[in-house]
Amino acid sequence: MDAELRELYQEIILDHNKNPRNFGELDPHTHEAKGHNPLCGDRISITMNLKGDVIESLAFQGQGCAISTASASMMTEALTGKTVAEAQSLFEKFHTLVTTDDRTDEDVLGKLAILGGVRDYPSRVKCATLAWHAVDTAIKGDASVAKTE
Ligand code: FES
Repeated sequence: MDAELRELYQEIILDHNKNPRNFGELDPHTHEAKGHNPLCGDRISITMNLKGDVIESLAFQGQGCAISTASASMMTEALTGKTVAEAQSLFEKFHTLVTTDDRTDEDVLGKLAILGGVRDYPSRVKCATLAWHAVDTAIKGDASVAKTE
């Protein structure tokens, strides 16, 4: 990756960290879950409204590092309007991107692909996937706390 692109990616992450999209709690909401990263103790919670099998709205709140906040923010943008099946498929692709060298789905992931750089830092993988695990838990209707491991 050239330096210019890296800088652009850095800016996008910083922007989402500073001005997180869809930050807060949806009231009312149909689904919710909490995410906990045991490595650092950071927690986030997500609320969503499912209409049929479509994610009509999705929000998150909580304290985390820049990577977890930016990832959660970008995730809410990416998943709003998606079906549950599409959201789960995107999570699988995102998980593959941040844990392996397989870049096949970079195009499908769009902006989210910039988080692929965390693959070299296992502890940061947990930051990047924290909100995603919470959404997965919420969709499955499991009220327990989603853990990153
Ligand atoms: Fe806690 Fe990243 S350091 S979520």
